[in-house]
Amino acid sequence: MKITIVGSGYVGLVTGACFSEVGIDVQCVDVDPVKIDNLKKGIVPIYEPGLEKMITGNMEKGRLHFTTNLSDAIQDSDIVFISVGTPSDEDGSADLKYVLQVARDCGKHMNDYMLVVTKSTVPVGTSRKVKEAIEQELAKRQVNILFDVASNPEFLKEGAAIDDFLKPDRIVVGTESPRAEELLNNLYKPFTLNGHPIIFMDIVSAEMTKYAANAMLATKISFINDIANLCEIVGADINNVRKGIGSDARIGNKFIYPGIGYGGSCFPKDVQALIKTAKENNYDLQVLKAVEAVNQNQKSVLFTKILNYYKGDLKAKTVAIWGLSFKPQTDDMREAPSLEIVNKLLKAGANVKAYDPVAIQEAKHYFGSSVSYYTDQYEALIDADCLAVLTEWPEFKIPNFKIINKLLNTTAIFDGRNIYDAAEMKRNGFDYFCIGVNTTNPVLKLELKTAF
Ligand SMILES: NC(=O)c1ccc[n+]([C@@H]2O[C@H](COP(=O)([O-])OP(=O)(O)OC[C@H]3O[C@@H](n4cnc5c(N)ncnc54)[C@H](O)[C@@H]3O)[C@@H](O)[C@H]2O)c1
Repeated sequence: MKITIVGSGYVGLVTGACFSEVGIDVQCVDVDPVKIDNLKKGIVPIYEPGLEKMITGNMEKGRLHFTTNLSDAIQDSDIVFISVGTPSDEDGSADLKYVLQVARDCGKHMNDYMLVVTKSTVPVGTSRKVKEAIEQELAKRQVNILFDVASNPEFLKEGAAIDDFLKPDRIVVGTESPRAEELLNNLYKPFTLNGHPIIFMDIVSAEMTKYAANAMLATKISFINDIANLCEIVGADINNVRKGIGSDARIGNKFIYPGIGYGGSCFPKDVQALIKTAKENNYDLQVLKAVEAVNQNQKSVLFTKILNYYKGDLKAKTVAIWGLSFKPQTDDMREAPSLEIVNKLLKAGANVKAYDPVAIQEAKHYFGSSVSYYTDQYEALIDADCLAVLTEWPEFKIPNFKIINKLLNTTAIFDGRNIYDAAEMKRNGFDYFCIGVNTTNPVLKLELKTAF
């Protein structure tokens, strides 16, 4: 079987690498010539554990190819996956221009039966638009070539993407064509044979499933953050409350960790897009509107704590930041809470010294020279007044507190991910602030009340 993946970003590269890993001949296409040139040399543009090795290994075996030429790539392809970006439009809806461009290109260049599968996250009704776009191009060419469309949303998590793809909780396929169903059933056999389920459904439901899944996960995060803020005011400890509720099997332990809000390339835009879809259909998705508002607020909570600690004046202060990516094991900084926090710190006049294990190059696109960057986590602390932990990278979890204490000017730690133990921090001589734990600092308490 030969397949083509159009769009060689996080999803396209992982999809291409994993399908080639199970023996399929894969062409990965992208419009970015620099990206494709680098990939041909084995230079992978993103950090994703295990991806580079898998890509270079399959390139060497001749099963994985990279090109900017979609027309050549799709010839003899049984299946074409669309995995281009669907960023938020100005009004919050998903911008479909890249998806529909690929659909038109498929219509322009296909010469034989093809199954066109949308893997990008797209609103309900997009597969129909993809179909129409292909039909229009075929009509212009005055040719009658059979094709099918399907929806196959991707559920991988950045940072664990390869594992998620090879061992998925489920594969969702929306299609109304038996031929397409058979093709996708065969394609995914290497994964489903191990017991990972493939769920077939109608296209609209498949498109909705992806949004509903991300909306549910975002809801869990905003819920726990909202409760965490209340815990802080009433004197409860969210770490205890989390364990207390997570042990209920109906609730579960996952995605109920308090923090500085969700970010990344998916949750913020997908929540917005679903709200927009509802609005277009005269329905008010009240829960998700609140989820979004809570998240926006949450991104400021740690900054407020830092500001209050220094009594509203950050002008001569230097804040060391550990972690910039929106979550560990990725260099992705799209919509990362660090963007909001660092920008607020800079605006308030603070100096920012930042360390991240892999996201420094990415961070430079956002902050340029307004931030100092370090390749060693302790070096970032030299002459800093305090430390703010924004991403829970494993290497931050048990640091050398003696060194931290020695290097920081005011020994204050602001833990945006609740990775440290408050009692231990006190024993180590730190003023320690995390999320959702009652503080003895009355200024902070007061400010938090007014901040919400
Ligand atoms: N990143 C994730 O964790 C994740 C997970 C599940 C689903 N998704 C969804 O998958 C889609 C892709 O996300 P991503 O993070 O991989 O995006 P990305 O921005 O990393 O990659 C998209 C790629 O598509 C390329 N592209 C744009 N137009 C093109 C065209 N006409 N032809 C060929 N290539 C083109 C871009 O150059 C870019 O390299 C989005 O809809 C996203 O919501 C993402």
